[in-house]
Amino acid sequence: MRTFQVRAGDGLPGGGLVTPAERPVPSPSAGEVLVRVKASSLNARDLLIAAGRYSVEVPPGRIPLSDGSGVVEAVGDGVSRFRVGDRVVSTFHPTWLYGRFPAWGELHGTQRDGWLTEYIALDEQSLVAAPDHLSFEEAATLPCAALTAWSAVSGVGPGDALLVQGSGGVSVFALQFARLAGARVVATTSSGEKARRLTALGASDVVNYLSTPEWGARVRALTDGGADRVVEIGGAGTLSQSIDAVAYGGQIALVGNLASGSGMDITRFFRRAATLRSISVGSRSDFERMNKVIARHRLRPVIDRVFPFDEAPEAFSHFEKGSRVGKVVISH
Ligand SMILES: NC(=O)c1ccc[n+]([C@@H]2O[C@H](COP(=O)([O-])OP(=O)(O)OC[C@H]3O[C@@H](n4cnc5c(N)ncnc54)[C@H](OP(=O)(O)O)[C@@H]3O)[C@@H](O)[C@H]2O)c1
Repeated sequence: MRTFQVRAGDGLPGGGLVTPAERPVPSPSAGEVLVRVKASSLNARDLLIAAGRYSVEVPPGRIPLSDGSGVVEAVGDGVSRFRVGDRVVSTFHPTWLYGRFPAWGELHGTQRDGWLTEYIALDEQSLVAAPDHLSFEEAATLPCAALTAWSAVSGVGPGDALLVQGSGGVSVFALQFARLAGARVVATTSSGEKARRLTALGASDVVNYLSTPEWGARVRALTDGGADRVVEIGGAGTLSQSIDAVAYGGQIALVGNLASGSGMDITRFFRRAATLRSISVGSRSDFERMNKVIARHRLRPVIDRVFPFDEAPEAFSHFEKGSRVGKVVISH
């Protein structure tokens, strides 16, 4: 079967981050299913892994990508959750099934081979059913970005104000979920064109964080006392503005650490009487609950661009450029 792998050599001319490879088709062991992969999607983590800049050591030759969808092609002994022909999606934490975050387990794309391949054999417990109304390309966007957004937005309801930072995968899903929940959404972004896209997706106001570096005060004014929930994407580089933006007693859901900076002033944070909550994607049971809502509302993920499997290296380059809104997908 055809796959792509990371750091297989010195990289390709032109900055290629993944290289093609051939592997035997795996056979499912007891409790495993063999999935014919139909689509996969990229997250910020995948770029760091492919570029050798991730916080966890990744062995050369690892097949990248945590997120994928496909069709069950064969089942091993004792499989009961899925049958041949079922449409399935990966989970980001393959061993976190429900309850509180248990501890870091092995993840696809780092300690385990990932989804940028034609076939993958894996524990049936680490898969969920794909929502019927979504294409494989759409379903492949859900495991990391959508579930992270779902966790970050959980508890937000009608009348609440939510701040999302930027127009990447997590933020756009957070905007969509918050709008479904009846909340008002304010977004920050870096360009007028992206501001127009975010407005079309339902943001009531968009602040350009480049031309308004003190955007926290602006968000506070727009939301009449501050955002009840902030989906924190920038981390150390944006937390200080997020503290300005958050309402008294509100919550900052700490998702990313994309922007370098000095972090936060504890005293200012303390004076907001706000909560800082770290997010680690979500469990399989969270994923299934999210999928029910996605199916009920026939929500469609926002896809920036779909690349054919053979052009996976171009998908990574496109993702790196940052000129996108929403998700970058590979169709297998
Ligand atoms: N904790 C978790 O469970 C979890 C799960 C998934 C992802 N993450 C992390 O969350 C972050 C976002 O992931 P993603 O997949 O959505 O990434 P992405 O699709 O690459 O989106 C990144 C977006 O961040 C925005 N951005 C960058 N610097 C910014 C700044 N200083 N202020 C405001 N916005 C800024 C940009 O928006 P504009 O282009 O609009 O300016 C960019 O499009 C990454 O750090 C990722 O590692 C964490």
